[in-house]
Amino acid sequence: MADDQFLDSQRYGFETRAIRAGQPHDPTTGAVVTPISMATTFAQEGVGRHRGYEYGRTGNPTRRALEECLASLEGADHGLAFASGMSATDTILRRLRPGDHLVLGDDAYGGTFRLISKVIAPMGIEWTAVDLTDLASLEAAVRPTTRIVWMETPTNPLLTVFDIEAISRIVRRSEALLVVDNTFATPYLQQPLRHGAHVVVHSTTKYIGGHSDVVGGFVAVDDDELAADLAFLQNGVGAVPSPFDCYLTLRGLKTLGVRLDRQCANAEAVVELLSAHPAVSAVLYPGLAGHPGHDAARRQMRAFGAMVSFRVAAGRDAAMRLAAATQVFTLAESLGAVESLIEHPAAMTHLSAAGSALEVPDDLLRLSVGLETVDDLVQDLSTAFEQL
Ligand SMILES: Cc1ncc(COP(=O)(O)O)c(C=O)c1O
Repeated sequence: MADDQFLDSQRYGFETRAIRAGQPHDPTTGAVVTPISMATTFAQEGVGRHRGYEYGRTGNPTRRALEECLASLEGADHGLAFASGMSATDTILRRLRPGDHLVLGDDAYGGTFRLISKVIAPMGIEWTAVDLTDLASLEAAVRPTTRIVWMETPTNPLLTVFDIEAISRIVRRSEALLVVDNTFATPYLQQPLRHGAHVVVHSTTKYIGGHSDVVGGFVAVDDDELAADLAFLQNGVGAVPSPFDCYLTLRGLKTLGVRLDRQCANAEAVVELLSAHPAVSAVLYPGLAGHPGHDAARRQMRAFGAMVSFRVAAGRDAAMRLAAATQVFTLAESLGAVESLIEHPAAMTHLSAAGSALEVPDDLLRLSVGLETVDDLVQDLSTAFEQL
């Protein structure tokens, strides 16, 4: 695919590459949509002589189209698609060996915390949760055995912004890799490799798929050796997405930019309502000038995203009632798709972090602002507040 002109980020913009990169018109029929290639095995012209594909777990044309497109959008040399965000995360963590140490930003998706604390740690890997807004704490936490510093930004669910460039300067003085989970921002809003990260990971289940109909994960890296190692693990472990999943993810990806432009604008209207509402004790949104990560967000993000969290002044029970009272915002886990969602992280997505350093406040609600009519979104929340 080296001759695919649409992979060239110097020549083509984000939206053009989202639609064309890695997705040449079908050479036999001219079809403009990448075919769903279902074959599990590929004919060889002589033993070991094939046209780039041998076996479906190792490589698949529809998956390759997705991998090349997303790598181009992240500004990465290599991309690997996985069956879920968690399997992408797990595959990266399989590079750790007993005695190695990992630093985890102290606000992260509950499933990442659960994987590290319940699956990876019992295999002899040490880990420390660190507030990565405090660079001195990070410096103090990094050990000679630290192999990975893992962070999200903005974080799930507190929308904390970590300064990728400042953190990467510290991490790059050690043996560790800086891994950034870019699920909340997407490559449209933020490209962590440009700011010094070694690895980018995604749950493509969220904004990239964008329609709540496909689970997937993705990893992007520049380093050739690291890419080969991860490709070995991708094949060796086998947590690969189906061709149909890859097709659906590519289909969603084509509209990522235009969806996010509108979702960010809708989020700003929701933030305006929440910021002025007496029932809200705090609004967590990096676009607010008073947000502690606002300046870092301005430096590393194109816009501030469509995830909004807020704290309900009357506490946990009122927060739970509010989450159940909305009509346009659906009470559900997950995020990033066309429909707006509301959830209570402490009892839902982040339940596994209860009692840990990553525990989230129980008066917190998280919104994923979607593409419905903005006035309906604002009205829906206003009406729900009236019912408190
Ligand atoms: C920030 C983040 N990373 C990773 C994941 C895991 O992805 P998946 O659900 O696709 O396995 C999630 C899921 O919510 C997430 O929010």
